[in-house]
Amino acid sequence: MLAAEESVVVPHELMKRMSDARRRSDALFSLVCAGSLYGRPIPERHRIIFYVGHLEAFDWNLLSERAFGLKSAHPEYDRLFAFGIDPVGGGLPTDLPSDWPNVDAVRDYVGNIRSALDQRLEKAVLDPHSAAGSGFPLSTFLNVAVEHRLMHAETLAYMLHQLPFDMKVRERESPNLAGPTVAHRMVPVPAGVVTLGLQRGSESFGWDNEFEAHEVEVPAFEIDQYKVTNRQYLEFMSAGGYATRAFWDDDDWDWKSGHEVFHPLFWKQQGNHWFYRTMFNEVPLPLDWPVYVSHAEATAYSRWAGESLPTEAEWQWAAHGTLDGQTRAYPWGNEAPKSRLGNFDFHRWDPVPVNSFPEGQSAFGIHDMVGNGWEWTSTVFGPFPGFEPFPFYRGYSADFFDGKHFVIKGGSARTAACMLRSTFRNWFQAHYQYAYAGFRCVRR
Ligand code: AVJ
Ligand code: FE
Repeated sequence: MLAAEESVVVPHELMKRMSDARRRSDALFSLVCAGSLYGRPIPERHRIIFYVGHLEAFDWNLLSERAFGLKSAHPEYDRLFAFGIDPVGGGLPTDLPSDWPNVDAVRDYVGNIRSALDQRLEKAVLDPHSAAGSGFPLSTFLNVAVEHRLMHAETLAYMLHQLPFDMKVRERESPNLAGPTVAHRMVPVPAGVVTLGLQRGSESFGWDNEFEAHEVEVPAFEIDQYKVTNRQYLEFMSAGGYATRAFWDDDDWDWKSGHEVFHPLFWKQQGNHWFYRTMFNEVPLPLDWPVYVSHAEATAYSRWAGESLPTEAEWQWAAHGTLDGQTRAYPWGNEAPKSRLGNFDFHRWDPVPVNSFPEGQSAFGIHDMVGNGWEWTSTVFGPFPGFEPFPFYRGYSADFFDGKHFVIKGGSARTAACMLRSTFRNWFQAHYQYAYAGFRCVRR
């Protein structure tokens, strides 16, 4: 627990981040044509309208009573919009558009919450001890609210990606389809000891699953210098990758067969040609872009190649380790993320060729460890030693410690800079194809 005095950090900077994050999420909703707000582009997730209410319901449920002792003006919506994703196992949602309130009512709810919270937050900046009774400083709650919203800015982007082009307001986009030839090779990573996680009491914010810091010994291995590209993945497909039982785990094979998956979700076949669905366009398959696939498909590819996916610890060491045994904050060093170092922080909608950011390479010469697409690891998402759920949000991580989710690391074009920190952990189910997530392989 942090001492009450530390809450003095709250303030203007976080307020500004909150309004930036709101602008980000508002901009996403304004991409959706009016008639499509009640659509459900991803069958496993809620209708788009849910997320309009969810971001504010979340902030309200988190901050109102706990931080400010406020009473709700709309408890029914606070509950309706409280939870965005259910733990796996329940089957697909079956609600109808008519089960949801109309959009004006939801927008009023959003507006009312913003002004009620902002009034209090402005006072709290002057009196930062206001949330001290909870054992956490107000800054923790604001970080949770801001990062929660920014995570949804990414998951909403995946979702709107699946929305047909004529249902969204097209933004001008000039995708960088090809560049200099990519010379694929593996690079050696020496043995090392890597620290995963954040130390409790640390100054920096982290989610519950980032605690506690612990060391892991990593034996030497080799790793792909670049992310696996669409070109390489096409070779796996031509070699009969999707039809070869031996490359697939039992569950993965059943999923693939049952859902008739024959290619990455973002790809589309027309006659003998492959196309790629970017956020707003269809383009000939960009061969040097990273391939985005599910964990199941990534694992099958790695078996075909005679290789494996990295563990979380291997990934961490490859990204942050150095030849003298030290670690650095980012693959390129300790400098904060800048657009010349990688494809992240909302500068683009889509990937770029995997060799576009030589300045962002890690100490071992590995490119794009952060940005241009998350990377699947072979590590099942679980608690670090000393894990404690946040008492104010017990299910954030713990609901997904079910053995069915895998850790992804790094970040995509739509990942906010604050979540590129080395300890941030993201996760999805093995069969989730919608995320901007690819992979690279290791040889041990
Ligand atoms: C951490 C991205 C897996 O969106 O599924 C948002 C984040 N949790 N609201 C998700 C989240 C609750 C979560 N991921
Ligand atoms: Fe959420």
